[in-house]
Amino acid sequence: MTYTSSTVRVPDVAAVPRHIAIIMDGNGRWATQRRLPRVAGHTRGVDAVRSVVESCVERGVEYVTLFAFSSENWRRPTDEVSFLMRLFVTALEREVARLHANGIRLRVVGDLSMFNERIQDLIRRAETKTARNTRLTLTIAANYGGRWDILQATRKLVEEAAATGQPVPVTEDALSQHLAMAYAPEPDLFIRTGGEQRVSNFLLWQLAYAEFYFTDTFWPDFDAEALSRAIASYAERERRFGRTSAQVVAQNADSLSC
Ligand code: IPE
Ligand code: IPE
Ligand code: MG
Repeated sequence: MTYTSSTVRVPDVAAVPRHIAIIMDGNGRWATQRRLPRVAGHTRGVDAVRSVVESCVERGVEYVTLFAFSSENWRRPTDEVSFLMRLFVTALEREVARLHANGIRLRVVGDLSMFNERIQDLIRRAETKTARNTRLTLTIAANYGGRWDILQATRKLVEEAAATGQPVPVTEDALSQHLAMAYAPEPDLFIRTGGEQRVSNFLLWQLAYAEFYFTDTFWPDFDAEALSRAIASYAERERRFGRTSAQVVAQNADSLSC
């Protein structure tokens, strides 16, 4: 699968999204409500990841992308950042075998140079081990920012052009091939838990035509049932990609008759 752009061509639409991207928000508030330290919410958040990924496999979703740590999350207290780094290491050590056994390919996107050597090594190993799995691609966005992604893709375009002495190809296709998730179709469904209704510098380019779903449920409470509600909401949407409703209805009738 190579990247296809919803603003260049109209993608196929099905009742189950091919690609779900999630901002897993509300861990801290989940814990505070229970008089627990914020980090207890992060630990429970890993359990929610496991159950949501399993449900996605069962439902035939092909790509799941989870925002685990944003390029702005370094601004948090040092203790919380260190805890999140340790949790990342533990998750990579403990969960990869299970992912592999379930046919899941793991990818990690973001500016990984900011992570220590141990984390970088675990990421490389996990990606290599699971590279040939085809059931579902799980992408973890870590030290990721949508602006970083667009800039790093632009930088690569410019460097490539300089190396070949060609003019820089300033097109959507050329740029999108260098985005961190060039291996995946654009997200069909974007979910944010925890009640906030903002994108927080997630996949800025790739969310151009995603359907947005916001829920007040905190991430540690987001389970298979909550995922079903999000997918049911998605199934009711009419994805027009700039066309009129009448055109979409006519196209759907056409594809049913052939
Ligand atoms: C999301 O939960 C997890 C990360 C950003 C790592 P938060 O930690 O942002 O939880 P709230 O939003 O403070 O409740
Ligand atoms: C977004 O959540 C990043 C992740 C879930 C990893 P934040 O909690 O950091 O977002 P803001 O700061 O409230 O926008
Ligand atoms: Mg938050």
